[in-house]
Amino acid sequence: MEFKRVVGTRRSVRWLKPWRPVEREKIQVMLEAANRASRSMNADYPRALVVNRDDIPEEVRETLYNPTTSVELDLAPTYIFWYIDMNYAQGAPDRLKELVKQHALSPSHGWSESYVDKFLWPQVLKPIAENPAILMFMGATEVGIAICNALNAAVDEGLGTCLHAFTAPEKVKQAFNVPDSWFPVWLQLVGYPLEEPEAGGQRPRKSLSYMFFEGNCDTPWKEDEKVTEKLKEEGLIQTPGPFPYREQEVRMLSRMFGLPE
Ligand SMILES: Cc1cc2nc3c(=O)[nH]c(=O)nc-3n(C[C@H](O)[C@H](O)[C@H](O)COP(=O)(O)O)c2cc1C
Repeated sequence: MEFKRVVGTRRSVRWLKPWRPVEREKIQVMLEAANRASRSMNADYPRALVVNRDDIPEEVRETLYNPTTSVELDLAPTYIFWYIDMNYAQGAPDRLKELVKQHALSPSHGWSESYVDKFLWPQVLKPIAENPAILMFMGATEVGIAICNALNAAVDEGLGTCLHAFTAPEKVKQAFNVPDSWFPVWLQLVGYPLEEPEAGGQRPRKSLSYMFFEGNCDTPWKEDEKVTEKLKEEGLIQTPGPFPYREQEVRMLSRMFGLPE
């Protein structure tokens, strides 16, 4: 699928075929996409644990239900538990020096191995690594960027996916030997969509002129209608909900599983 259509087609899919496993190959595509996301210092922030629903002991799985995550846990055949490795800063000087060695970071922009060792690490990065608030803020941002790639890759592979609150990670930690340095962030559920690909239509979003600004923050971004039209043709902007058949679709799906209508 073209990039713009992937981004425009992605939406949180909560109706998945519980009986259809996801091929390992497709999960690998998602993980590779996550691993290719941009990351500051080129450090190793994101960690993921992939487990099939049916391989999760029931006493662990039942701890994952929470006020925003319920039926999806029964429907999704594959779970990806996303974490920040809070030790990410430890390897950062070496990761930066790798970039210097391959001339991705060059002297033209002030970079050298000794700049990393003598200034950047001791003066800038080490203080970050020692500040829990910054450490967490950076980790959450970086893992979020990686997950975003995994979400879009899933769409490109024809899968349905949604992020979920990962509220009771202790049992998961015990059951799957999750290292102490991994901080839990989100649970990504993955499977084949049971609902129409539109999943009720593109979700409502405020306009670009509401969200973004140009030149100063008193000047809203002005959309070029020609660009907007092109993005509609290319699938980045799609038909918003509510769709006329959506209520019926959800009712029928609910009936299929004996869920409240
Ligand atoms: C970080 C994150 C956490 C989310 N957590 C939940 C969740 O716990 N339960 C849920 O049903 N949806 C969750 N969602 C999905 C959002 O509610 C959904 O993105 C929102 O409804 C916008 O729709 P879209 O993703 O289809 O564009 C989460 C999304 C993100 C990005």
